[in-house]
Amino acid sequence: MENRICNLFKIKYPVIQGGMVWCSGWRLASAVSNAGGLGLLGAGSMHPEVLQEHIRKCQAATDKPFGVNVPLMYPEIEKIMQILVDEGVKIVFTSAGNPKTWTKFLKEHGFTVVHVVSSSKFAGKCEEAGVDAIVAEGFEAGGHNGREETTTMCLIPHVRRKTSLPLIAAGGIGTGAGMLAAFALGAEGVQIGTRFALTTESSAHEAFKQLCLSLNEGDTKLLLKKVSPTRLVKGTFTTAVEEAESRGATVEELRELLGKGRAKKGIFEGNLEEGELEIGQIASLFREELSVADVMKEIISDFNQGMEQIRNLTSF
Ligand SMILES: Cc1cc2nc3c(=O)[nH]c(=O)nc-3n(C[C@H](O)[C@H](O)[C@H](O)COP(=O)(O)O)c2cc1C
Repeated sequence: MENRICNLFKIKYPVIQGGMVWCSGWRLASAVSNAGGLGLLGAGSMHPEVLQEHIRKCQAATDKPFGVNVPLMYPEIEKIMQILVDEGVKIVFTSAGNPKTWTKFLKEHGFTVVHVVSSSKFAGKCEEAGVDAIVAEGFEAGGHNGREETTTMCLIPHVRRKTSLPLIAAGGIGTGAGMLAAFALGAEGVQIGTRFALTTESSAHEAFKQLCLSLNEGDTKLLLKKVSPTRLVKGTFTTAVEEAESRGATVEELRELLGKGRAKKGIFEGNLEEGELEIGQIASLFREELSVADVMKEIISDFNQGMEQIRNLTSF
């Protein structure tokens, strides 16, 4: 395949593995890059020295391009940025913050910069900030999410109208058919989180993966809107959050209920009762833990088959 996203990152397929706390270490990122996509290390759950170690291991595990996702609310952000410069990382996906804060610095240091948005308004800010491409992430996505609940189906055409920058769609895409749909709406690449979080190479706990691979439609919900909207698997913890939210708990009360380290507990340690279990709606489509190479093969062949199917469907 060849398009602006493939050319920008020098990759074979316009498939990006989203940076994911507690899932996307060097094993997952390098496997995705080796399979022809773009792997991203998720700095959001790494202390600076841990990130440095993962960058080095990823460099050793692949000679293909890979990047780092940096959520901008990260407390030790200056240290992280310096590590990216020192370690010779070339691609950074920023998220959860204002694209203006770090894009200039990153561009001055020669990085390719991509920012994640959940509205066309923020896509405009990305363009002003000088990013190279945009990820537009819809409400279906796992992890932290936009407040407006705009679905990928609505968001992509809005962002496409707003900007002519290379556009990557995210949220609810885990198959080649989903990728094809995103392309039909104007995207030129896809960022996939959930499907890759449930692969062999993901560092998520096996119990978390197996739970997610057994989910049905409607088993996840967007909660914690007052604090930071997050899509979670329904369970003991989300019931407690829902109860608190329905009695009008304050931000402080919700923060206290959330506590610290809940995502680690759920995703990395496999504590399904007390942990925060972040995963996207599309998980309900999958039943098997596959390797990254198999997932990528399936996505690309499904994409090509889907194109053929559409041609047949429309030849009336
Ligand atoms: C477990 C999990 C953790 C995530 N952590 C992050 C993160 O640290 N930074 C970020 O920008 N996005 C994060 N995301 C979002 C993904 O990068 C990606 O954009 C999203 O999963 C795409 O939607 P999908 O889940 O429907 O594939 C996370 C998603 C999941 C499922």
